[in-house]
Amino acid sequence: MTVPKKLTLSLGEKSVDFDIVESNEGHHGVDISKLTAELGLVTFDSGFVNTSNTKSAITFIDGERGILRHRGYPIEQLAQSKSFLEVAYLLNHGELPTESELSEFTKGIRNFSSLNPAVASVISSFPKHGHPMAMVSAAVSTLSAVYMSELDPRDEVQIARATQALLGQMPAIVAAALRAGDGKQPIASDPNLGYVEDFLHMCFGEIPKPEVVKALDTLLLLHADHEQNCSTSTVRLVGSSQANLFASVASGVNALSGPAHGGANEAVLEMLEFIHRSGDSVTRYVERVKNKEDGIRLMGFGHRVYKSFDPRAKIVKEIADQVLSKLGVNDPLLGIAKELEAAALADSYFVERKLYPNVDFYTGVIYKAMGFPSRIFTPLFALGRLPGWISHFTEMNHEGTPRIGRPQQVYTGHTERAI
Ligand code: CMC
Repeated sequence: MTVPKKLTLSLGEKSVDFDIVESNEGHHGVDISKLTAELGLVTFDSGFVNTSNTKSAITFIDGERGILRHRGYPIEQLAQSKSFLEVAYLLNHGELPTESELSEFTKGIRNFSSLNPAVASVISSFPKHGHPMAMVSAAVSTLSAVYMSELDPRDEVQIARATQALLGQMPAIVAAALRAGDGKQPIASDPNLGYVEDFLHMCFGEIPKPEVVKALDTLLLLHADHEQNCSTSTVRLVGSSQANLFASVASGVNALSGPAHGGANEAVLEMLEFIHRSGDSVTRYVERVKNKEDGIRLMGFGHRVYKSFDPRAKIVKEIADQVLSKLGVNDPLLGIAKELEAAALADSYFVERKLYPNVDFYTGVIYKAMGFPSRIFTPLFALGRLPGWISHFTEMNHEGTPRIGRPQQVYTGHTERAI
């Protein structure tokens, strides 16, 4: 299909041509940067459903066809044959690493694997029952007071060091936040273990089974990036003020915490447990969702971009079956989840609105089987999403000092009045 060169908009007598910004794949853009100057209008696009704030070469999604690719590689192929750290490298550097590049990259990250004492004391100062996402965001913020010579977003060497520090510290931070909730001290990182193996060891104090390590590695990989989602856009927006990488990522952690975004994985488990405890049938629960009773939604269902299926969810469902059977766990919640999925996929409410299971629908059941309590599910998402946040921050700053993000509004308050 030939790409149109211009979009012409008319307002009254005046017509203005707007340039088309060409994509390699997917929707082209229309550059409306002169809209206000030329026509005295601003765009109105609640939820940024039609708005792109950036060009990006990291991740491509085709929501209609259920396609997700990082740097051109389909997620199915990456999940099949690559590790979380290989994908982290790919997102950040644009190419898959050779063996020696991967070993160098891993070494750089592992140099930062011991929980920094300042970060440890921030986590331990939190109320025990505080949500671990609050601990994780505070811990990541603290890193900007620890690695003070890695704060300049215009210096690529400093960004690279800050990247190592973040990827190195994050497993220790999430593990410490998990243990703090149980009133337990952190477990020291063991440099002889692999990245995910060490993380699990820092969580539970046991050397994990290889199949659990592999499954968690793949789950982290599946979360590694998802182009301009809410938390990544937050990282970009905060970073556009020239805030440092740690501060920007801490904001991403907070954006991820909401139940419409990363918090959904915890909410799914709560929903499944509620159905199980209440003895309500799945059909009754689905009816309540359709009737929008108390505003409830089918958590782990629906997505802003996927309108046929979420390719990550397919892989996660397979992992759920494998992990539960390997660990000999017979969790009734898995059965309820499958029943819910089947009921929703056969129901016109969900079909018409193109609502399918997303990445969060089955992850909770797997994390639970691995021994994680539900409060740590969203921090696990943060650990997985970290490479994406870093890559977008790096891409944005690589292109030169970013223009500060500053949306417009359509004002609906009082016009001038006197007191
Ligand atoms: N259950 C029931 N109805 C739903 C759901 C759901 N999970 N999601 C959307 N709808 C309905 C919604 O009520 C609306 O119906 P109506 O037209 O009658 O008002 C219609 O579908 C469109 O919904 P929307 O809120 O305009 O869609 P959105 O694109 O703004 O929201 C979403 C996307 C993911 C926030 C939403 O689907 C949702 O709340 N899902 C549940 C939470 C969840 O699983 N979030 C994780 C997303 S995947 C991980 C990530 O990337 O964060």
